[in-house]
Amino acid sequence: MTRILFYLEEYSHDIWRDAFHAIDPTIDFRSYPDWGDPENTTEDTYSLVWQPKPGLLKEYSGSKVTFSIGAGIDHIMRDPNLPDHIPIVRMADDGLKEGMAEFVVMSVLMLHRGMVDLIDAQSRKHWARIFAPAASSINVGIMGYGALGQKCAAALKPLGYKINSWSTSPKAAEDGVTHYQGMAGLEDFLANTNILVGILPNTQETTGLLNMETLQNLPKRASIINAGRGNLIVIDDLIKQLDLKHLSGAILDVFEEEPVDKAHPLWEHPKILITPHIAAVTRPKTAAEYVLRNIENYKNGRPLENVLDLKRGY
Ligand code: GLV
Repeated sequence: MTRILFYLEEYSHDIWRDAFHAIDPTIDFRSYPDWGDPENTTEDTYSLVWQPKPGLLKEYSGSKVTFSIGAGIDHIMRDPNLPDHIPIVRMADDGLKEGMAEFVVMSVLMLHRGMVDLIDAQSRKHWARIFAPAASSINVGIMGYGALGQKCAAALKPLGYKINSWSTSPKAAEDGVTHYQGMAGLEDFLANTNILVGILPNTQETTGLLNMETLQNLPKRASIINAGRGNLIVIDDLIKQLDLKHLSGAILDVFEEEPVDKAHPLWEHPKILITPHIAAVTRPKTAAEYVLRNIENYKNGRPLENVLDLKRGY
């Protein structure tokens, strides 16, 4: 009988248990702290976790695969005692991908159509008639071109935007998308981006990648969306570039410190909209399908989807 060891603080586990049982009522779904004696972990045990307590995964190191409840795995990697023999699988269920695409389409349209300025104008009762250029004249540059980035590109293409992508690893050629790669391709990518979409994971390479100097490479009046991890952007540099009017606006969903401190200037900046890390929230129904599909892959010796590559760091 397949056993799932589930760890998620603050939220109800019932909806998750129900999602698994709707697919397979025999699943032994165990909510933390009721994981049972680690000595009795069966051969058919897997963990599904978000921000697990450090040391917990080592204690239950009989588990065969660790599934992250989110697309990111930084919340698992911060554990200094992580067992190194258990593969870690990032979440990339259809619900998460659709959620990210919805958020990115909404944000691209908002920046394209001047909504950040219109919201600010309304707060001042100012009748600001903003005329936007055609979508076909706007380059959207997606940083991070895995499962999520590709879904966003597919959702944006029919609206007429020109799409560029940037990632640390090479990508297969794709119709309608110009791909840039690595540090060598970054400057050109930025120079050709009007609306930048950040959905990169948190790695050494991505930390502080967008700073005073690299933001300067974007064309004047470019704007930014960040829905990956907060560490991508040096936030004080972003605020400076907005104040200098080199950049025109930003929609930010992720931050180095969450929740954002109430005293932080981000809250009141007229060119910034912030959302509380809700761009893409894992949806239990599709996540349960994804996890059970990958457990089948594991049992049948097939490759796991979106498995952590330690060399790349995501
Ligand atoms: C959310 O940030 C996730 O990692 O899915």
